[in-house]
Amino acid sequence: MPKSKLFSGIQPTNLLHIGNYIGALKQWVELQKKYDCMFCVVDLHAITVPQDPKELRQNILNTAAAYLAVGLDPKHCTIYVQSEVPQHSELAWLLSTLANLGELERMTQFKDKAKKHGERASVGLFSYPVLMAADILLYDTQVVPVGEDQMQHVELTRTLARRFNTRYGDTFAVPQALIQKVGARIKALDDPAIKMSKSESSANYIALTDQPEVIRKKIMRSVTDSDKYIRFDPEKKPAISNLITIYHHATGRNLKQIEQEFENKGYGDFKSAVAEAIIALLDPIRTKIENYLRDPSELQKILDAGRDAALELAEQKIKQVRDRVGLGRK
Ligand code: TYM
Repeated sequence: MPKSKLFSGIQPTNLLHIGNYIGALKQWVELQKKYDCMFCVVDLHAITVPQDPKELRQNILNTAAAYLAVGLDPKHCTIYVQSEVPQHSELAWLLSTLANLGELERMTQFKDKAKKHGERASVGLFSYPVLMAADILLYDTQVVPVGEDQMQHVELTRTLARRFNTRYGDTFAVPQALIQKVGARIKALDDPAIKMSKSESSANYIALTDQPEVIRKKIMRSVTDSDKYIRFDPEKKPAISNLITIYHHATGRNLKQIEQEFENKGYGDFKSAVAEAIIALLDPIRTKIENYLRDPSELQKILDAGRDAALELAEQKIKQVRDRVGLGRK
C-alpha cells in the first residue's frame, strides 16, 4: 500500500518560534515515517508583505536548517523551496479563476493583515490562500498538519478541490487538516489574547534560536492571570494555560501531572520550570541550526534533491490539470 501524501510549509519570515514548533514542526517529525511527506519553505507566501531580498534569502536557509534541526529526515521526506518549483504559481493562477471574492474576503488572516496594511495591503495578501491551496493540491495531498490559524485556509483548499473536480472531472484529492488537540494556537507571551507570531515584537515569542538567558527573561516577564493557581483553564486562565501547554510539549508530561507538580507552588517556581524545560528542548535544536548554517553545503544538497523530486511530481500533475482545463495545444 502506498503511504498517504502529507504536505506542509512555513514562511521564511524572521525567526521560527516555539508556536511554529508546537503547532507544526513537532507534528511533522512525528508523522514523517507514517506518510509520504513534502515540507516546503514557502518563500512566495513570504513576499505578500514587503521583504528585504538579502534577508529573505538568508531566512530561506534558516527555515530549512530549522526543519532539519528539529528532526526532519530527508530520507523520509522531501524538503524544498516553493519558488524553485514554478508549478505552484501556475496552479495558483488556475485555482484563482475558481475562487470567489466573497470567500477570500472572509479569511480571518487576510482581514487581520489587511487591517495592519490598510490600502497598501497587496493583492497577493488577498489571494494568499489560493497559493496555499495550490501548494497542497499539486501533490494530491491527503493530510495537512498545521496550527489552528491555518484551518480556514485548508477548508478553502477543500472547497477549491471539490469545485475543480466538479467542473473538470476528478483531478485532486480532497485534503484534511491535522490539528493538535493541545497547542494548536500558542498565545503571545505578552498578551494571551493574541497568537504567538513572528511578525510581532520579540517579547511576544520565543525563537527557536533564543539563547538560554533570553528565554529565562522572556518567560519570567510573561504576563500571568489574576489568581495564583497553576491550573489549565484556557478560558479563565489563558496566560497560565498557555505556559502549561508549552511545558506539556517541552516535557511530555500531561496536563494533570503538571497541575499536580505545581499544586502548592507559585508562579515564580512554575515559570522557572517552564523556562528550563524550553531551554532543554531548544538547546540541541539551536546548536544544530547553527551547524547547518555554518557550512550550508549539506543543506544546499538536500534542497537541490528536494527541488528535483518536487519538480517531477509537480510537472506530472500540472500537465494533467492543463489538459483537464483545455489549455494550450495537444
Ligand atoms: P506560518 O509560516 O505562519 O506558520 C507555520 C506553521 O506554524 C503554525 N503556527 C502556529 N501554531 C500554533 N501556535 C501559533 N502561535 C502558531 N503560529 C504559527 C501555523 O499554523 C503553520 O502550521 N500559510 C502558512 C504556510 C503555508 C502552508 C502551505 C501550510 C503555505 N502553504 C500549505 C500548509 C500547507 C503560514 O503562513 O504558516
